[in-house]
Amino acid sequence: MEPLNQKKILVTGGTGYIGSHTTVELIEAGFDPVIVDNLYNSDAQVVDNIQKITGVRPLLEVFDLCDSVKLGKFILKHKDIQAVIHFAAYKAVGESVRNPIAYYRNNLLSLINLLDVMKRYEIPNLVFSSSCTVYGQPEKLPVTEDTPLQPATSPYGNTKQIGESIIRDTTCSDKNLKAISLRYFNPIGAHPSALIGELPRGIPENLVPYLTQTGYGIREELKVFGNDYNTPDGSCIRDYLHVVDLAKAHVVSIKRLFEKKNKSDFEVFNLGTGHGVSVLEAIRSFERVSGIKLKYKITGRRPGDIEKIWADPGYANTELGWKTLSSLDQAMKTAWDWEKMIRSNNL
Ligand code: UFG
Repeated sequence: MEPLNQKKILVTGGTGYIGSHTTVELIEAGFDPVIVDNLYNSDAQVVDNIQKITGVRPLLEVFDLCDSVKLGKFILKHKDIQAVIHFAAYKAVGESVRNPIAYYRNNLLSLINLLDVMKRYEIPNLVFSSSCTVYGQPEKLPVTEDTPLQPATSPYGNTKQIGESIIRDTTCSDKNLKAISLRYFNPIGAHPSALIGELPRGIPENLVPYLTQTGYGIREELKVFGNDYNTPDGSCIRDYLHVVDLAKAHVVSIKRLFEKKNKSDFEVFNLGTGHGVSVLEAIRSFERVSGIKLKYKITGRRPGDIEKIWADPGYANTELGWKTLSSLDQAMKTAWDWEKMIRSNNL
């Protein structure tokens, strides 16, 4: 087989949170990633830090995938791309409720444009960034890949469901195309170097960035959205996995496609630890790794929140040969180190 380092992978959204960690892992596995990003929710400087970590500077082309003309020109310059990992998308649940058209346009048009050029230029392999949000509140836990999907509770979630359907239909119509959809549970933390991580713009919506910002004193207190759920301590339960573990799953998925180990043309994997963690347990973890007593108060439920969800990662464990390696505390520690790094560098 051709050596991996001759394999060029297009990483859309490669300067974003999960995209940047995946780019690092791809380089470390010997691949040649090229990034397309419109920098809507990220910074070109991320490429400098990927270079600091890996010693390799991935190419970054800044444009919007909704622009099919620019995408066509880009692919013409890079006809040797052999696979695509598609991260580029809007991802804020609340914002998607306020502005659904922007979400449908951005998340679906970019995917359609990509599939179009992949078909035209015979790029046969796609890994898609999906979410456990497609399961809604499942009746049975943990969630396997066979758990029935529920109607999406937000336009964002709907773009992931529709995105998967578009990809599945395209793989049916095009015998050359194979795709893997990775349904992420809740990624947290940052690279152990503290050189890349999540840079939330404005007030964070997600738990862990809010938690670390509160620990640092940027936010006055964390609001715990509800303690009257049907869970052991009353707060919601999620499956938090370290972003570096998640990034590695993309590398094994790409290898699976290259090595033609896929069992069907459209495969789905749940990526999580298999352990549910409550909001209050996440706070305890932060307190353990930071030595800080966190200021928080219990408030009302957040509309649209799911009570509890965690993955059965068994299929990913056996089929992909992938499993999470970091504990909650290890992941939380990297989130805290990253928060301190951002603040000391005024990012
Ligand atoms: N939470 C708080 N206080 C906060 C923020 C969050 O108590 O300030 C709680 C939430 O109520 C929830 C848990 O922390 O119980 C996790 O909330 P996040 O916003 O971090 O994550 P979600 O599980 O709500 O959403 C995440 C991603 C979505 C994705 C979804 C899939 O942000 O993109 O998982 O279920 F769709």
